[in-house]
Amino acid sequence: MLEAKNIFKSFNNGNVRVLKDVCLDIAEGDFTVILGASGSGKSTLMSIISGLERPDSGTVTYNGIQLTALKDKELTDFRRKYVGFIFQQYYLLPHLSVENNVRLGADLAGNRNYKNIIKSVGLEDKCKNRPFELSGGEQQRVCIARALAKQPKILFLDEPTGALDEQTGRSVLDYIVKLKNLEGFTMVMVTHNQNIAEMADTVVKMNSGGITEVYKNSSIKSAYEIGW
Ligand SMILES: Nc1ncnc2c1ncn2[C@@H]1O[C@H](COP(=O)(O)OP(=O)(O)O)[C@@H](O)[C@H]1O
Ligand SMILES: [Mg+2]
Repeated sequence: MLEAKNIFKSFNNGNVRVLKDVCLDIAEGDFTVILGASGSGKSTLMSIISGLERPDSGTVTYNGIQLTALKDKELTDFRRKYVGFIFQQYYLLPHLSVENNVRLGADLAGNRNYKNIIKSVGLEDKCKNRPFELSGGEQQRVCIARALAKQPKILFLDEPTGALDEQTGRSVLDYIVKLKNLEGFTMVMVTHNQNIAEMADTVVKMNSGGITEVYKNSSIKSAYEIGW
């Protein structure tokens, strides 16, 4: 479904070489975790395979669409149509209610069913509240709802529980996996947390800007079975 070939990426005019000849294949419907220490290049790789950033060289292809050949506007359209994002920081609009934050995501895809999604993350009682009135876990659930309201084909998550305590983090991961199994989208999650990798179908290990290992988990754990 998503294929990255020979990706190189550097910053500061080539002085900071971050990705070195990365190749990666993501299968439709898979839950892939990109696992590596801080600074190993996970977020940079995620930005490139999701069409947020361009590599210096190499190609990214999504179901036959070569992202690396698209013009900026076409790439924006691609993201709008197919891709959902969840980050460690919530990036909610502070002056909008929960409902209107989620509606923004839904409007991008012409989806009128966003109220069900608010329900599915357990926030129907808070839909008139604004983000500052919610806990961190609730805010992240708004982000999940906003991303899913777009009905993405592929969901990218960068350390989605990085700012959450254990109990909230587990519950957010549990929501994400349940919604994935219900909706059937493809999911790529970046984390430095080895425990979270035990929840994935496929684990892609990164070190110093390269992929060092790719493996499938033989048994997959739930958010409440992993260590924290
Ligand atoms: N925009 C940027 N400008 C300069 N250096 C960057 C930039 N983005 C990332 N880097 C550097 O690239 C390396 C990998 O960063 P990143 O992809 O964020 O790693 P990870 O997500 O695994 O922590 C780090 O050394 C980081 O400082
Ligand atoms: Mg990162």
